Amino acid sequence: MSNYLPRPVLGVAYYPEHWTEERWQLDAEQMRTIGLKVVRLAEFSWGKIESSPEEYDFEWLDRAINVLNSQGLRVILGTPTAAPPPWMAEHRSDILAHTRDGHVLTVGGRHFYCPSNAYYRTQVTRIAREMARHYLNNYSIIGWQVDNEMGNHGNCRCYCQRCATNWYAWLQNRYQTIEVLNREWGTIFWGQIYKEWSQIPLPTQTGAGYSPSLELEYRRFASDNALEYFNLQVDAIREHWTPKRGFITHNVFYGDDNVNFHDLSAPLDFISWDNYPHGMKAISEIAFYHDFMFGLKNEPYWVMEQAVGSVNWTTYNPPVYPGQVRLWTLQNFLRGGQGAVYFSWRQSRFGGEQYHSAILSHEGVQTRAYYEIMDLSKELDALPPQFFRRQKARVAILFSYDDLWALQLEPHNAAFDYIQIVKDLHNSLYKRYIPVDILPHDYPAVKLKEYSLVIAPAPIIGDYYTSDMWRVYVEEGGKLLLVTRAGAKEPSNIWSDEGQPYALKDWLHIGVEEYISFPPFIPGNFNGEILGNQPACGDIPLLLCDEVTGRQVNARRLWAERLEQGEDVEIILRYGKSNELDFFANSVALACRKLESGEAYYLGVLPNEQTYRYLWEELFRIECTPAIPNLPLVDGLEVVRTGELHQYFALINHNSHSIQVLLNRTYRKIKGEEVLEINLPPFGVEFFYLS
Ligand code: GAL
Repeated sequence: MSNYLPRPVLGVAYYPEHWTEERWQLDAEQMRTIGLKVVRLAEFSWGKIESSPEEYDFEWLDRAINVLNSQGLRVILGTPTAAPPPWMAEHRSDILAHTRDGHVLTVGGRHFYCPSNAYYRTQVTRIAREMARHYLNNYSIIGWQVDNEMGNHGNCRCYCQRCATNWYAWLQNRYQTIEVLNREWGTIFWGQIYKEWSQIPLPTQTGAGYSPSLELEYRRFASDNALEYFNLQVDAIREHWTPKRGFITHNVFYGDDNVNFHDLSAPLDFISWDNYPHGMKAISEIAFYHDFMFGLKNEPYWVMEQAVGSVNWTTYNPPVYPGQVRLWTLQNFLRGGQGAVYFSWRQSRFGGEQYHSAILSHEGVQTRAYYEIMDLSKELDALPPQFFRRQKARVAILFSYDDLWALQLEPHNAAFDYIQIVKDLHNSLYKRYIPVDILPHDYPAVKLKEYSLVIAPAPIIGDYYTSDMWRVYVEEGGKLLLVTRAGAKEPSNIWSDEGQPYALKDWLHIGVEEYISFPPFIPGNFNGEILGNQPACGDIPLLLCDEVTGRQVNARRLWAERLEQGEDVEIILRYGKSNELDFFANSVALACRKLESGEAYYLGVLPNEQTYRYLWEELFRIECTPAIPNLPLVDGLEVVRTGELHQYFALINHNSHSIQVLLNRTYRKIKGEEVLEINLPPFGVEFFYLS
């Protein structure tokens, strides 16, 4: 499904089962009135579709679909497997998941199932197959959402006996013999040598410190295991529905990391995600997640749930301001989204989300969002669809679940946060209006070639396959930048004895001699750690020096690696002299090896804004503001260049105040007039022709 839809689509999540049937017609008419085209249904309706074992009631759903269809609305059906009906657990309590601390989940909410349970797996396959069969000839249905937010609420990591059995089989398949596993994990440490697969624990609780190999393998297993469960449903639908007949997708929650989303996306026609900006830490994260979701398949995606008002699950649940629903929807379409399905049609009167806003209020009255969406859908109709074609980026950041999980398990410094490091890197480019793709860490070299700079943040788990790809990418002219902790570990999460960076050193010729982790110094308080008699440093950055010019640059005081310079390696930055880092002074902080026509860089520190400026503007000379030359950098201003031939751009003001933007020359707005200066109102979005 790499093609874009002819036009971006607006839709809504709707729960007809929450309301009386008499209301459905009005709901459908109002949906049509505000320009919605698609309705997502049924993802939590198992208890109604099958209120007793194998007694199906599709009639209510058929009627709801007909009512929607009478208004020209198309339907995406959810398989209802995120919340099985209570009778199922009464019948078979083994479908309930076990938490890490030994509790058994109960029914009453959602995501309480164990993904390994053989009985539950049969049930989900059965219901998916029944639905797929029942609706095959109903052409108002255009596609499927399988399950709901895999991995949300900690779901997918279960610690029951059945999971243990699957875990042994998974390990056996991976290591073949217990001897190999013992060797690869180094179980000689503390004498935890396993004689039988069944002796290996699930990582629930031990006296002190499970092996990081066991912990990382459990995370990999739990993801594979959950996807085995998930793919049963994909396959059951595919038995009847070809991709031409209807798409299959899934809505991930952006903040979840229990399931490897690269693997999850693979069998799907496209990926979808749920965009609730209020759960994010910074405005720039919305763009980050759009880029991340696009990169999962490097193809257009949908936003399957788009917030239209305050949610009910953040600390303070602030409002969504006028203009923000329009902004978020347009931002989505500009960055590669194809669909925006709002969550939800009407605010629920019961259940756990009564405080969650919707397009209609509890009593069924239109809210601000209703009118905003109505205006927006008219605006969208008037915009050229080519406007919504994501621009190809020239810079890529590589993301790896192995690195994420390994560093979650052993950050070695509480502030060393892999996801945050990736987000910071992205943000440093985003705020310079530089487009970035976020790709899987083992993205094939032939396709990496399209990028002039590829950044691998903290790629701690080294492997020869990826190393080869990176080498080929560099040899063919690419620029690769590794940022700290590269190849400290082998794939089984043990330290390599080949020297760091494992698998890369042979051709990179840059090694890591020593690392230092810095605690956050607070005057008079060393957080209980003995550091010797040292001055308090507050937020003093690390000092670095440019090898050629001697100019000082600084970096984040969090992590530093002293690099070892091998053959043909050029030194770019050295550590400067600073009190407690005297023994690092003059050693190498950033080095580069030229390989045929490309360059591979290793940076041994985490950047701060000054380092980013040095890297992007001086070292790599990435064209800043490539969309519009010399555009001033304004906080909260997002610039997106779009169109297959990059013939358009949009300015997005994420601020709650208006901003003046002075362009480098006059540009024509999509609506006609030529402007040199533009006043963007709070949350305003404006579109321009580039030429
Ligand atoms: C999503 C979920 C929806 C609803 C929504 C509320 O995570 O998929 O069912 O709960 O959150 O924000």
